[in-house]
Amino acid sequence: MDNRIRIAIDGPSGAGKSTIAKRVAKLLEIDYIDTGAMYRAIGYKILQNRIGLMDKEALQLLLAKTEIDFTAGNIVLDGEIVNDRIRTPEISKMASDASALPEVREKLVALQRKMGQVKSVVMDGRDIGTNVLKDAEYKFYMTASSAERAKRRWLELMEKGEPADLIQVEADIIQRDYNDSTRSLNPLKKAEDAMELDTTGMTIEEVTQKILEVVKWQS
Ligand code: DC
Repeated sequence: MDNRIRIAIDGPSGAGKSTIAKRVAKLLEIDYIDTGAMYRAIGYKILQNRIGLMDKEALQLLLAKTEIDFTAGNIVLDGEIVNDRIRTPEISKMASDASALPEVREKLVALQRKMGQVKSVVMDGRDIGTNVLKDAEYKFYMTASSAERAKRRWLELMEKGEPADLIQVEADIIQRDYNDSTRSLNPLKKAEDAMELDTTGMTIEEVTQKILEVVKWQS
């Protein structure tokens, strides 16, 4: 019998998806796939190569020569770990813009489906429950107020020694929510069969336990 489990976690940026997904995966001893990091890696490479998003030919060429994978929780772009290089505001914006392009989505969605085919995974992103793993056993849609999400991102940046303006961080988050939920291709949307989790005011531990309760209770 196939006893794989696929857990899809979608939601806007800063809702806490990756922190929670990582913890849930660790506790269940299964793999964690951060699909946002894959879009960020492509955004990083586009910026590095100074390619315009309208230049379809150059973009196709770049995508054909791009390899993305995960090793021991690290995002690997063309054989190089790029974890630390893909978390800047500039890359956030480029990842969001690049993620609206059909060529980019086609490549990454195919890769993500392949990753979810062979093993149990926790996968987080924007279109996992609605598109990538439509038949996932468990689906969650994680949200939090934009003020709380901005505060979390701001703290993260401060901890990394990158002080930012809280008002600007929230404005960027609202803009990115808008981009991600209004693009025509696989926009950010709650899957009908996803359980909604508003994490405003909840601790990481509380959200993790909530998900584990659902998964354990149903399996
Ligand atoms: O989760 P994140 O902030 O690291 O994601 C970066 C960008 O990638 C985000 O603006 C939207 C896009 N994305 C997407 O379109 N589909 C996904 N499954 C994951 C991320």
